[in-house]
Amino acid sequence: MKIDGSTLFVTGGGSGLGAACARHFVGLGGKVLIADVQEEASRAVANELGKNARFVRTDVTDAASVQSALDTAKKEFGPVRVAINCAGIIGAGRVVGKEGPYDLASFSRTIHVNLIGTFNVIRLAAAEMSKSDADSEKERGVIINTASVAAFEGQIGQAAYSASKGGVVSMTLPIARELARFGVRVVTIAPGVFETAMMAGMPPDQQLALGAQVPFPARLGRASEFAFLAQQIVENQMLNGTTIRLDGALRLSPK
Ligand SMILES: NC(=O)c1ccc[n+]([C@@H]2O[C@H](COP(=O)([O-])OP(=O)(O)OC[C@H]3O[C@@H](n4cnc5c(N)ncnc54)[C@H](O)[C@@H]3O)[C@@H](O)[C@H]2O)c1
Repeated sequence: MKIDGSTLFVTGGGSGLGAACARHFVGLGGKVLIADVQEEASRAVANELGKNARFVRTDVTDAASVQSALDTAKKEFGPVRVAINCAGIIGAGRVVGKEGPYDLASFSRTIHVNLIGTFNVIRLAAAEMSKSDADSEKERGVIINTASVAAFEGQIGQAAYSASKGGVVSMTLPIARELARFGVRVVTIAPGVFETAMMAGMPPDQQLALGAQVPFPARLGRASEFAFLAQQIVENQMLNGTTIRLDGALRLSPK
């Protein structure tokens, strides 16, 4: 899929990996709708990027909210060709903690944002893509999801997060198989540990220690490195129905 002149829909685009994608794709000539619940930071990213970026406050868990943001993207920039799911939350806690069993509402919230929110964007974006004209390569769209290496080796305290990201990994192939007839590809990225707001919540010594666990390069990933892989996924038509680990060979330890 050609990026220059195409419309991209980036959830979680106000921060971290999503903001890096917004910057990267506008730099490549794309037009980016930033869909995020966080207003101030998202507006700042959109303002920084100028006329080819627009922010619409969007909650990925809400059907009407996502549809309305997709409609705005279409009206302002043209039909959405690429949807990048970066919205996500952490949700950590032990199954049996000091204060008793893990709160069920917290577990549901993590699944709701990370898994159901991702599916909500996929289904609505794919419906739009399936109605648009195919390009010269018979392609109508590309959907990129963000899982995590925690989908494969979740740590103690990551039951909810790992379950939500495991769901994203598992639905990638069946959705790619189904959407193939429309010329829509679906690929998931499973990042290791990246330097973003999500990580900034962690004490600096813990961040350093996490980075040091990465075999090579022994550091946290840069958000720009995530955006660079997203570019390759958009441009390389043979990438479909798979999850790509982006982790410097990191395999998370139990804790
Ligand atoms: N940073 C890492 O090391 C890392 C590792 C593996 C996976 N991930 C995943 O990458 C994605 C991006 O993470 P990040 O590190 O950039 O985090 P981040 O906190 O910097 O950005 C996440 C963004 O998602 C938005 N968001 C949260 N709930 C939302 C909702 N309901 N609707 C719309 N937007 C919502 C937030 O407002 C925020 O702007 C997440 O799915 C995260 O789980 C991150």
